[in-house]
Amino acid sequence: MRSFFYTFIIMKKLIIINGPNLNLLGKREPNIYGSLTFTEFFEIIRVKYPSVELHHFQSNIEGEIIDKLQYASANFDAVVLNAAAYTHTSVGIGDAVKAIEVPVVEVHISNTFNREEFRHKSFISPNAKGIIIGFGLQSYELAIQSLI
Ligand code: DQA
Repeated sequence: MRSFFYTFIIMKKLIIINGPNLNLLGKREPNIYGSLTFTEFFEIIRVKYPSVELHHFQSNIEGEIIDKLQYASANFDAVVLNAAAYTHTSVGIGDAVKAIEVPVVEVHISNTFNREEFRHKSFISPNAKGIIIGFGLQSYELAIQSLI
């Protein structure tokens, strides 16, 4: 009973939303993104943060990411968002981050500022609660820690 209330009180419901090509982690440019798949990494962090109800969603489609952000607003306590290439192009995802009530932490695996110039612009950052960039997959973990 005690553990039920303990879980009930502290449990946070977070969702990691990943954008295009992040389904290829582990295979895609491992020199930049590492050799772990996101599924493998997700299992590790799920075990490591038992006080967090952790969910994951990935899409290569801009509108699906916007739909999930709107859904998250009513159904989660916070969002960890790696919009991948859409970070640098999507006014729609930027507007969704601005429109929703829940805090959104923007993350990137690589340090986008020491890569091509087109990766320096983010439509997410102005409305994100915070930004964590360049720590490999650990960027996601740091984002979770910042939210709990
Ligand atoms: C990325 C950086 C983006 O520029 C790139 O398009 C990605 C991944 C990152 O996590 O480092 O797909 O968001």
